[in-house]
Amino acid sequence: MNSNQSVIDAGKKYLIGNYGRLPVAMVRGAGSRLWDADGRQYVDLFAGFGGAILGHCHPDLIEAATQQAAQLWHVGNTFWTIPQIEVAQRLANIAFPGQAFFCQSGAEANEAACKLARLRGQVNGGTRYKIISLHKSFHGRTLAMLAATGSTKYREGFKPDVPGFVNVPGGDFDALAAAVDDDTAGIIMEPIQGEGGVNIYPEGYIQKVRQLCDEKQITLIFDEVWTGCGRTGKWFGHQHITDSNGNVILPDVMTLGKAVGGGLPVGVMFARPEIAALMTPGKHGSTLGANGICMAVTKRIFDVIERDKLLEHARVLGEHAVSRIKQSSAMAHVADIRGMGLFLGLEMKQAPRQLVEKGLEKGVVINVTADKVVRLAPPINISREDLDVGIDRLIEAIAAVYS
Ligand SMILES: Cc1ncc(COP(=O)(O)O)c(C=O)c1O
Repeated sequence: MNSNQSVIDAGKKYLIGNYGRLPVAMVRGAGSRLWDADGRQYVDLFAGFGGAILGHCHPDLIEAATQQAAQLWHVGNTFWTIPQIEVAQRLANIAFPGQAFFCQSGAEANEAACKLARLRGQVNGGTRYKIISLHKSFHGRTLAMLAATGSTKYREGFKPDVPGFVNVPGGDFDALAAAVDDDTAGIIMEPIQGEGGVNIYPEGYIQKVRQLCDEKQITLIFDEVWTGCGRTGKWFGHQHITDSNGNVILPDVMTLGKAVGGGLPVGVMFARPEIAALMTPGKHGSTLGANGICMAVTKRIFDVIERDKLLEHARVLGEHAVSRIKQSSAMAHVADIRGMGLFLGLEMKQAPRQLVEKGLEKGVVINVTADKVVRLAPPINISREDLDVGIDRLIEAIAAVYS
């Protein structure tokens, strides 16, 4: 398997075909650069759906993983282990006072959060079970998270839907309020919708949702699987949202995935202590959750983001990327640019057919979601030089696709 084609031939024979794969086999990465099996180099402006938040093969993360690999891998969660406590403590410092449960993926973290919302809804003989989510949301591929995901296309072929989930239009507070009833246990939403097209809600919307949840004792879950860990220029996406006194609007439960593992499988459910306390022994679990190597890497990700001032870097480079694109010929084809930090969406006037493939030809990795939104989410430690090269290649690809 020493060429793109030979890898693809073997993959087609042995792998289940549930992914629409591009005709390239990646074999090596360093920082924001990737190399394929034919030796071609790419600038990575998508970081493996956001997972590679610090790029590829970061030396600090290699060090953290190898040190822990030589010390302790896995004993299961009947024992106390140090790395997971250190990560949870870190989260309580940079997010809000809370406690953590660790799993392997964003979908599992959201499952845990919805279970916790139901637990809270059913204390003292309560019977609340309903979870409300938003159209165009994405919360994962497990059966229950398909029902939470507000886009029916992901559910096709998997009927019946898991009951107890209701989807309402995103950003429409009246529609949300109308869907709330005595059975409602939780509301789950992304601070910025990722798969749905990098969608930002109208001013004041999330504040009103928080207020409604307080009034009705509903558990508010922020799915920060895309927006967590510095992607938007703050530690978490919700930290951009404040009330009239400038206080950050906090969720009751926050979920993390993707970036929090830096490319290793880590999911987190992080909840306010009084709600987290409902998860008593036996209520939930995960055999490999909080695996030592994963937790050591996660802790080091937070250290590196802080040490290298990457929140500010993401903010500055995000603005730089937007201004470069706005000054380019590509703008003739762009209807809207939105996002925060290094989480950007360019909504094109017409669907950019084959743009991802054209980008690969030019040497840049990008993504297209929601039919016509070009999505950029490079590693947040990308250098200005690499970002510029990547954007130049993207602009060339856009010119070629619409010519
Ligand atoms: C907002 C959001 N939540 C949850 C998930 C599911 O995460 P995972 O693929 O790790 O299960 C995703 C995946 O893209 C996501 O974007």
